[in-house]
Amino acid sequence: MARLPIRNRPIPWISETLIDFSGVQVELCVPPALYERQSTDKYFILGKSASMIEAMMENTETLETRNIVDVGVYKGGSVVFLNEVFHPDKLVAIERNTADIPALTHYCDDATRNDRLRVFLGVDQADQAALGRICRHEFRDQPLDLVIDDASHFLEETRATFRALFPRLRPGGMYIIEDWAWAHWPEDYWQKERGGDYFRGKLPLSNLLVELMLLCAGAPQFLRKVTFNSVVIYVERGPGALDPGFELSTHCFNRGDLVPKIGAAISPSTVYSSPTFVFRG
Ligand SMILES: C[S@@+](CC[C@H](N)C(=O)[O-])C[C@H]1O[C@@H](n2cnc3c(N)ncnc32)[C@H](O)[C@@H]1O
Repeated sequence: MARLPIRNRPIPWISETLIDFSGVQVELCVPPALYERQSTDKYFILGKSASMIEAMMENTETLETRNIVDVGVYKGGSVVFLNEVFHPDKLVAIERNTADIPALTHYCDDATRNDRLRVFLGVDQADQAALGRICRHEFRDQPLDLVIDDASHFLEETRATFRALFPRLRPGGMYIIEDWAWAHWPEDYWQKERGGDYFRGKLPLSNLLVELMLLCAGAPQFLRKVTFNSVVIYVERGPGALDPGFELSTHCFNRGDLVPKIGAAISPSTVYSSPTFVFRG
């Protein structure tokens, strides 16, 4: 398949929420429509906003995207969107749920793409061994160009995925973490209802952003750049070799000392200032 020149990845919008890729449509949906509507063979539900799409395109403007991993599939819209926009050589998607997504299965099984698109159901994003097996099998020795984590949005799980997949990015590759700020958004749902049953009592994902900032300072050879907006984090891979499963905290320093791991016991005499504390859940 002919590869589109980088910087020339137009999004064929036909309305503010609907994209038409030559007959395969992708609709941007937010809750509750996101939960209620279903994908069909030529129409897929995508759980992202237009501003997230625009920011993704800006942040990947000069990125070559041969090998992509999409973590969190839901109704399949992100797999279709990433395939139609980036035309990767291989796109691997990971989803914890085991239920088939028929429209996505049909889309991936099409003869024009069935050797390039692979969806793994029943895989937990925190299962680093499974992620490693999948990457070794699907990408062989090739590094990844782009990872998008839009799965649980929980700290431990998201951090585990980062440990497994970030080292597999090539230098200059991009790691995207969506919806990092759920513990801090001002709306009542997030503050009064604590994000509902799903997020209530969970550690904020912003702890990972703090760690990524420290990692960027302490080990720029691994992590060249971290940028973020109110919804999404963009992490650019540096050139240093890194083994999958690396421990972030061994590269984070504060005044020459290793920054304590999240959740470590804190001495009563120690005064912690941001960015070394754990936000309350
Ligand atoms: C926000 S939806 C993904 C939406 C999709 N990326 C899109 O843009 O349309 C999150 C998905 O992640 C899945 N998920 C949640 N926790 C997970 C975990 N621990 N491992 C893998 N997938 C998980 C959920 O089942 C759900 O399908």
